[in-house]
Amino acid sequence: MTYRFKVNGDDVALEVPGMRRLLDALREDLGLIGTKEGCGEGECGACSVLVDGAVVDSCLVPVCQVDGTSVLTVEGLAPAGELDPLQQAFLERGGAQCGICTPGMLIAARAYLDRGGGPVEDDIREAIAGNLCRCTGYTKIIDAIAHAAGSSTSV
Ligand code: FES
Ligand code: FES
Repeated sequence: MTYRFKVNGDDVALEVPGMRRLLDALREDLGLIGTKEGCGEGECGACSVLVDGAVVDSCLVPVCQVDGTSVLTVEGLAPAGELDPLQQAFLERGGAQCGICTPGMLIAARAYLDRGGGPVEDDIREAIAGNLCRCTGYTKIIDAIAHAAGSSTSV
């Protein structure tokens, strides 16, 4: 069966088993390796992408469920090679260390900003609660998201 959906604004058609993980379709079939696999069990958020604007763990979502939807991956944040303000803030504020969690963090943060989220630490913590980071202690990530949300104040 062929599944048709959009990825980062482009139409894609994949002839794959319906239960193929979206994560594998993105990385292996479409070559979008920005999305990372951490746990493979829905626990870490490294594989987060947006499906019709909602954050999902792409390791848990079969391709058949995204038929007809619009998927955004981390590559879609910088379509013309220009960094998303969140990416710029992560760079400037040291929000990325090993980088494994970073694509998922950026996606969760993008969804947060898109729904009008502001530079409030507790709100940001809640928005990234499904995304684990082993390196940063979260402070710099939260600072970066707050900065991108319009604050120049460190949290
Ligand atoms: S790899 Fe999907 S949640 Fe960890
Ligand atoms: S930067 Fe390494 S897991 Fe977050």
